[in-house]
Amino acid sequence: MSIMKEKFPGVYQMDGRLYTPNLVPGEKVYNEHIIHYEGVEYRSWNPYKSKMAAAILKGLKTMPVSRNSNILYLGAANGTTVSHLSDIAVDGTIYAVEMSVRAMGDLVNVCSTRGNIIPILADAEKPDTYGMMVGSVDLLYQDISQRDQMGIFMKNMEKFGVGQGILMVKARSIDVSMPPGKIFHRVRKELERKFRVTEAVSLSPYSRDHMALVVG
Ligand SMILES: C[S@@+](CC[C@H](N)C(=O)[O-])C[C@H]1O[C@@H](n2cnc3c(N)ncnc32)[C@H](O)[C@@H]1O
Repeated sequence: MSIMKEKFPGVYQMDGRLYTPNLVPGEKVYNEHIIHYEGVEYRSWNPYKSKMAAAILKGLKTMPVSRNSNILYLGAANGTTVSHLSDIAVDGTIYAVEMSVRAMGDLVNVCSTRGNIIPILADAEKPDTYGMMVGSVDLLYQDISQRDQMGIFMKNMEKFGVGQGILMVKARSIDVSMPPGKIFHRVRKELERKFRVTEAVSLSPYSRDHMALVVG
């Protein structure tokens, strides 16, 4: 018989798949599977659609999100990963920054039933333009495929005085001509000039040429 086990607070695993308890029972966000187990509704967390799920399945040791976490999320897109974090941080707030108007339309729909997400239409390269909308945060999560993704991350870590961060590095956005391994090494060295990198997890095969770097 299959047994649902809690892998991290608010993150569950059964038969090799990840789940989060659905904050809005009956509602799907991205056509994910819904299951019921011992009276609780869970949404499956797809590692091919969410780098956070990929990092967990690839062996992330510490999950820096808990029930009370306040998170600044840069590159929220249409809310796939944000929605799972909102299932976990039920008593926290997720400030979800996205600059695409199209993606923001979907994100606003997700927020209409999830009261712990605040959507912010802004360019993450300019934290001064949305600083007034963001309260105190425990974690910066960034998933932005831009050449200067590391600069954006550093700028926001410093601006909001955040203690912990997860940077989803997309090597190909930084330099297509350089081997991804070299890019990850370079980004890590650069981050270590200011922060302590506690984990580095390759997201292959779920997201090729991506690495999750955890600082804290
Ligand atoms: C790979 S997608 C994010 C996927 C999302 N994190 C998830 O897991 O559900 C990257 C997103 O970053 C957004 N983006 C890129 N540059 C940005 C910037 N400077 N400021 C804010 N968002 C940006 C893009 O519009 C895109 O929606």
